[in-house]
Amino acid sequence: MVLTRAMSDILRRLDEKRGAARTGGGARRIKAQHDKGKLTARERIELLLDPGSFEEWDMFVEHRSQDFGMAEQKIPGDGVVTGYGTVNGRLVFVFSQDFTVFGGSLSEAHAEKICKIMDQAMNVGAPIIGLNDSGGARIQDGVASLAGYAEVFQRNVLASGVVPQVSLIMGPCAGGAVYSPAMTDFIFMVKDSSYMFVTGPDVVKTVTHETVTQEELGGAITHTTRSGVADLAFENDVEALLELRRFIDFLPSSNRAPAPVRQLADPRDREEPSLDTLVPGNPNKPYDMKELIAKIVDDGDFFEIQPNYAANILIGFARMEGGTIGIVANQPMVLAGCLDIDSARKGARFVRFCDCFNIPIVTFVDVPGFLPGTAQEYGAIIKHGAKLLFAFAEATVPKVTLITRKAYGGAYDVMSSKHLRGDVNFAWPSAEIAVMGPKGAVEIIFRADLTDAAAIEARAQEYREKFANPFVAASRGFIDDVIQPATTRRRLCRALAMLRGKQLQNPWKKHDNIPL
Ligand code: HXC
Repeated sequence: MVLTRAMSDILRRLDEKRGAARTGGGARRIKAQHDKGKLTARERIELLLDPGSFEEWDMFVEHRSQDFGMAEQKIPGDGVVTGYGTVNGRLVFVFSQDFTVFGGSLSEAHAEKICKIMDQAMNVGAPIIGLNDSGGARIQDGVASLAGYAEVFQRNVLASGVVPQVSLIMGPCAGGAVYSPAMTDFIFMVKDSSYMFVTGPDVVKTVTHETVTQEELGGAITHTTRSGVADLAFENDVEALLELRRFIDFLPSSNRAPAPVRQLADPRDREEPSLDTLVPGNPNKPYDMKELIAKIVDDGDFFEIQPNYAANILIGFARMEGGTIGIVANQPMVLAGCLDIDSARKGARFVRFCDCFNIPIVTFVDVPGFLPGTAQEYGAIIKHGAKLLFAFAEATVPKVTLITRKAYGGAYDVMSSKHLRGDVNFAWPSAEIAVMGPKGAVEIIFRADLTDAAAIEARAQEYREKFANPFVAASRGFIDDVIQPATTRRRLCRALAMLRGKQLQNPWKKHDNIPL
């Protein structure tokens, strides 16, 4: 077939335009990007998505800025690559900012491209993944770029709880630009090449006279250990993108879709005799809650989130009989598993994510109570602790709870207790469910007649025998069964299978008013 001249001209122009878009800011800037250990926007998309699945949109979009010589500098695509594709066969929408084009800065047109894929993701019910690498608002675009950010923010909010939103920070993310990732469900960062802050080191120096590097102020380690802004830190772009693929596998596509099921060979009835001796005889001795999780979930595969922040609570995804579950667990190895401000906030946000997206929640409890102290009280532990309580109480997804050892005081109530509509509440024989620990309890109720240590210990022993066990709670039906540790996997699998058809609705409201 012979093409008409007009047609071959158009096809040639198309090729040229595509070529220009693919080259982005040019070979020099691409080399600079590689020299920093960073991949380009398109290389990142290639690694993230299944091979050949990417459908690009808006490759020919250009900015509309006329000032500062911008009319002569137009690069098709305008600094962001957008479209959709699949991750292990499941649809996702993605935008990837191209630092080689005006530093990945956001113009009005660049924002419109992002908004377009966000709108479509909402319409069809698929996750939105943002690969962020940007110098922020395009300075030459003026207020139009600020408007563009606000359009993205508005969509982040409307999409929240409708489709999962995940941000991968792979370069600069500063100023108001941080607030788009901040409103997404999860933030992953790349060590040494990404940072997030509201004001950079220079402004910090001027205002507070503190000297701090970009990395110290807002690098991946800072945000995954100190601030808790980010969920995970990865060594490089490749690791981050491959782990993001693994992560997406756990998530449902939207709030209308069930959590995905991946069939695995791990048998439901697998017993773990070592769990019978996991809890030490001495109640003050810690043990690693991660060991319990690894032994009961499918193939021992636990995708932990925020492992290095508020490590006294563990959160993350796993599978039971192939179905995704969200795990919340006290960690006796850190602060004896106490609840405090950071762990309550960490747990609450995760519980709310699971509840938004139909992911059953399995809670493992070993909690001596809330952490005492002025730092906690002045820091508003009352408000923050209430967040976790609120989150568990409002959640309508299947909730299965296992108390392994301590469940004392208000923390017992908070940790997905029967009273907060826990569907199935188990305890191991080693569980101690009471208002407070034996020593503290006897010192209050027998204060007048306790004169020496022996008398205190005798009363504490009496209290221990009476209350520090699972049977008082079980006799009231607050615990559905006291189970042998070795059989935990089977019991949890059965409970979750029974709950698959659960339907529960909270009363109609515009929205709730969680204590913020
Ligand atoms: C236009 C920008 C830009 C921006 C970078 N570039 N940021 N162009 N608008 N915001 C361009 C540079 O001119 C340069 O172009 C190229 O991108 C790479 O930038 P470099 O400075 O050479 O790179 P590097 O040394 O790695 O430094 C990266 C950087 C720095 C730290 C991000 O560029 C920087 O500080 N940029 C300004 C950041 C900023 O103040 N943004 C506005 C924040 S306010 P050439 O042609 O030389 O390659 C904001 C408000 C959002 O974002 C509000 C939302 C409510």
